[in-house]
This record gives sequence, C-alpha cells and structure tokens, in this order.
Amino acid sequence: MTVHPFPDGFLWGAATAGHQVEGNNTNSDTWFAEHVEPTVFMDVSGDACDSYNRWEEDVDLAASLGLNAYRFSVEWARVEPEEGLFDDDELGHYEGIVDRCRELGLSPIVTFNHFTAPHWFAMRGGWLDPDAPALFARYCRVVADRFGDRIGFAVTLNEPNITRMLTWMDLPPFVRELEAATLEACNVHAGVPRYRLSNVMLPEEIEEFAEGMEAGHRAGKAAIKEVCPDLPVGLSIAVMDDRVVGDDSSVRDRKRVECYGRWLGLAREDDFVGVQNYEAIPYDGAGEVKPDPGVPLNSMGSAIDPTSLAGAVRYVHDEAGVPIMVTEHGLCHEDDSLRVGFIPPAIAGLREVMDEGVPVIGYMHWSLLDNFEWIFGYSKHYGIVAVDRSTFERTPKPSAAVYSAIVRANGAEG
Ligand code: BGC
Repeated sequence: MTVHPFPDGFLWGAATAGHQVEGNNTNSDTWFAEHVEPTVFMDVSGDACDSYNRWEEDVDLAASLGLNAYRFSVEWARVEPEEGLFDDDELGHYEGIVDRCRELGLSPIVTFNHFTAPHWFAMRGGWLDPDAPALFARYCRVVADRFGDRIGFAVTLNEPNITRMLTWMDLPPFVRELEAATLEACNVHAGVPRYRLSNVMLPEEIEEFAEGMEAGHRAGKAAIKEVCPDLPVGLSIAVMDDRVVGDDSSVRDRKRVECYGRWLGLAREDDFVGVQNYEAIPYDGAGEVKPDPGVPLNSMGSAIDPTSLAGAVRYVHDEAGVPIMVTEHGLCHEDDSLRVGFIPPAIAGLREVMDEGVPVIGYMHWSLLDNFEWIFGYSKHYGIVAVDRSTFERTPKPSAAVYSAIVRANGAEG
C-alpha cells in the first residue's frame, strides 16, 4: 500500500472512449462493421451507455469521486460525417464536455482518434490511403481550433500498436478468419475494394498500417501544435509488462522491438507518452510461459498482477525518456472484489517507480463505465461503475470507492 502522497497536481482520472460509451455512432467504420454479415463483433454497440445524452452525468460522476481529470475521445465520424463537411453542432457537443470538465475541476484529456474513424475514411482504405495523414490532420486542426485552448492534454492516436501486439497472443484461428471475412463483407456492402478499420486488421497489412498511423500522428500533432503551441501532445501505446523467465531474453526482446519499437522511438519527439497496461506476460527462450494452474486470471485469460503497471511504466520511460501519463490501466472481471484488491497495490507500485525518478503526470483508470468492449461486445467488464443495459442507470461499484479514497488522499495510505 502506498505510504506517501503523490506530487501536488498529479492527475487522477478515469477514461472512456466515444464509440464505447456514446451509442449510435452511426457514421463510423466500426458501426458499419458491426452490422455486416459475417462480423467479428459479438454485439452491435447500439445505444452503448447512452453517454452521448448522459455525458453530463458521467462527468459529474467522475467529479464526485474526487478526480481531477477525465479522459474521453472525440468521435471523428460525428465531427466530420462526410469528407470535408464539419458539423458545428457536434463540435459544440464536445466543446460542452470540455467546458463542463473545467467547471468541475477536471482536466480534459482528449483522444482525437480512439480506433474509430468515419465510414468515408474506411472506404478510402483507412490508414492505408496515402492521403490519410493529411485528412486526419485537417480534422485535428478543426478540433484544436474549436477548444484546444481549454484541454489539458491531447492524445492523437490510441494504441496504434494493438493489432501488432495481438499477433503475440493466442487468439483462436477462427478469430483471424472472421476478421478477414468481416473486412470482405465490408468491401461488398460498401462497394469498395479495400474497406479498412484500425482495430480489425489483416496481419499482412499491419506494417503498412503502422506507417500510415505514424505519419498520421506526426501530421495530427503538427496541426494541433500550429493552433495550440503549448498544448502537450502525445500518443498512447498498449504496453504489457514483458518479463523474462530464466536467462534467455531473446523472445521477450524480439517482442519488444516488434510491438513497441517504432512507437517508443516516435514518442521521444513528443511532450509525453500514454501508457496503457493490463497485464504482465513472462517469456522464456521458447515463448510465452503460461500461468500455473490455479493462478487467478482476468476475464481475458492472463494472470491478475497489480505489479505489471510499474514494470510497463519503467520500461517505457527507459526507452522513450519523456514524461508518462498512464492513459489506461484496469482489470477485466465480473467480480469487482478482485478490482478492489487490484487498484491499491498497482498505484503503490506506480508511486515506487516515480520514487526511482520516472516522471509520471497522471493515472487514468480504465474504465469509468462498463462499456462496449469492441469485438467482445458487452460481455466484458472493466468499469468501476456498472451500467444497467436497459435503463442505463449508473451504479458505482465498491472499486469506485476504493479508487476515490486513494485519490482523495492523493495516493497516501487512506
Ligand atoms: C483500449 C480500450 C479497451 C481496453 C480494454 C485498450 O485496448 O484502448 O478501448 O476497451 O484496452 O480492452
């Protein structure tokens, strides 16, 4: 348990993402892919948590826990539903969230692209389109122009490395087949040769996607900086705590180069880097070492390990050298008592890394709400607040109180 406070001004927040909570993101690529046949998505997002209408309640909820930051995303598909046509009302919608956060003392941490993109963008091939970086930059400039002066931190892209990281996980072969079939169904329904999304990807296109997204980050950041030179801009990276068992680190090291190398190199030029961690995975010279039988697992199948956050943050700082924002960290499980036991030691571990000299700006718990967990639909739960799927009533779980107590004590033992 943490015994001494975090630095003054440390940002304590919770995170959400537009498509996962808003509902009816009908002009987006993901909405389209959810509705084709076959589809890899287990559920359609539908009304999600109805946060498009209930966002004020969500922001109030974050403030009521004593948080001083809220991470959310702007949905590009709402702001630019047709190529080149920007919707003033939708910009006003997000501006309202930003302003309300500030009124309540929450620093708005805004993700400009949390996986989902407009349908028209996917029809052009998504990040494979040579014009993608410029199109993204144009959207970033419009958003920054509208309310960039009032946000705390800008995250251009969320986890551009996630699909590469998934190639290191034991997904059943049918998932890959279903992903390819989903993209093919999208091509047919949209009447284009190459409909592409950034979180359902063909393995053979991952590298080309990464190039497009790297260029997109650079262009988006430049556009934001042109409008708001002092706004800190970075990207967020999915980072496991990859460990070595025994004395052969070759597999672990190869994984690190493949999954993070490009992005950590890129982050060196940024104001901060977002770390998103959910697990620690051990590797020996032959590959991943599976957890011993009986070890408690999260609902994604990896061992529950609160020390993973510290390891991931330490590694990212060693490689990128810039300040870190924990933009996501949490536990996927039905049983909230596991989350109650997980949050305090994870935060204590983060404090220890900071004692070693690693600059950490803030910690955003994923997630404020149980929400639409992409291809898993509504079957997986990460929230510290439960959402009734028919009434949308929000009910804080015991873990929300535990996190809130830590926040109110600024990390000190509460
Ligand atoms: C993503 C979130 C997702 C979470 C849990 C991250 O990969 O940024 O959108 O819900 O992890 O899987």
